[in-house]
Amino acid sequence: MHETLKSLLMYTREHFKNEEKIQRECMYPYAKMHASEHENLIKQVEGMAKIYFIEKSQPIDNIAISRMKDLLNMWLIEHINKFDLNLRDWVVPAEST
Ligand SMILES: [Fe+2]
Repeated sequence: MHETLKSLLMYTREHFKNEEKIQRECMYPYAKMHASEHENLIKQVEGMAKIYFIEKSQPIDNIAISRMKDLLNMWLIEHINKFDLNLRDWVVPAEST
């Protein structure tokens, strides 16, 4: 769980930074809302890392693992399907530029 959260945090920070750069370049009109969603996801991952590995205020048990799975599902499925796929129409394919 520690490694997953650590990797997720490192990956999301870099991925979101790159994705937001592309949005600015494409003048994506919903960039602010999208960035806010990214920030919200990072805060949730950071919050989980804080609870379980910094403060250690909650045990790492099946409930903790279930929470992490829910967070991953939310990020991988909901965010990509609801937010990232909307970028398709705004991103100009490299071969057409
Ligand atoms: Fe995104």
